[in-house]
Amino acid sequence: LDLQPLHTFGLPAFARGLCLIRNRADLHQFAQLRQAGGVHLLLGEGSNTVFVGSKVDATVWKVAMKGREYLGCDGSHQHLRVQAGENWHHTVEWTVAMGWGGLENLALIPGCVGASPVQNIGAYGVELKDRISAVHAFDLTTESDRVFAVDECEFGYRDSQFKSSANGRYIITAVDFALPVQWQPVLGYGDVAQRVELLGSINPLNIMKAVCAIRTEKLPDPTVLGNSGSFFKNPVVTEQQAKALINKFPNLVHYPAGLGLVKLAAGWLIDQCGLKGHVLGGVAVYDRQALILVNLGQGQGAELLQLIRHIQMQVQDKFGVLLDPEPNLV
Ligand code: EPU
Repeated sequence: LDLQPLHTFGLPAFARGLCLIRNRADLHQFAQLRQAGGVHLLLGEGSNTVFVGSKVDATVWKVAMKGREYLGCDGSHQHLRVQAGENWHHTVEWTVAMGWGGLENLALIPGCVGASPVQNIGAYGVELKDRISAVHAFDLTTESDRVFAVDECEFGYRDSQFKSSANGRYIITAVDFALPVQWQPVLGYGDVAQRVELLGSINPLNIMKAVCAIRTEKLPDPTVLGNSGSFFKNPVVTEQQAKALINKFPNLVHYPAGLGLVKLAAGWLIDQCGLKGHVLGGVAVYDRQALILVNLGQGQGAELLQLIRHIQMQVQDKFGVLLDPEPNLV
């Protein structure tokens, strides 16, 4: 099985085969085959998995459950249930077209709905955890359904229990959204507010359009230039560490991260190391956004691993901070 078209970074790689998960029978089959000892990998739309090994000794399973359902309004929220295999951006467009605000800041994030809680996707001041009420999952150890309320998911910045403490235990089958009836725009991040102003009135549709315009300018289209969005997480340091860094680098880009913690902009750190546009064989640091690594077309997994190490070492040397890759490297 050629994996190149199945992940947005598009590195050349091969796996044993591909199966689809469309229903309950497929979920049970996946659980049983995995318990029997085979190597089985779960994949959504491949925007958060990068196949860096050219031979992946596994069968790849693609989550393909489809459907969107309106569950009703309880006065304060509109409730929706969306199956895991639905495309994320199309789901955002659907909610905005229906007149339900809340997801517009998360427009154009690549991937499927089932992957969205795993890393608690976020953009322009909104995180998934602010907009959902529950996550439906299939427990692979007991082969039974589980429903997690939002506060049981251990959501953090680009993190959840599905990625950390319970990594590999569940397959997310659907997500329940709760969108506020009293919609409030979130315009505090970057130049979103300015863009919306250019479009006229402040409503979910115009915010979605503004976010799409910003993302299209800054982030390469994976169908044109292979990539997996932000390649590193923005590192979180203590206030003390941040103060020492600000003394040395007065322009350091940073945001409060709660509890005496400060989040640094990884893109800025990489940029300051002079690495924007840095090319290593067939892979490179994107020349318009240093946090994004791209496949120039002929990139190889080994080159990407080398580029990651190079960036990590440069940033560590200059700032004493270790950058942690965001996508799963397989
Ligand atoms: N910056 C530079 N040089 C660069 C890139 C960034 O100096 O080459 C500076 C910018 O000027 C800005 C700061 O770094 O002051 C932050 O940059 P930006 O606003 O572009 O956001 P980011 O931190 O790079 C994060 C998310 C994105 C999300 C945007 C908007 C992470 C790892 N990334 O990017 O998420 O879309 O904010 O909210 O948290 C993703 O996760 O794949 C993703 C694209």
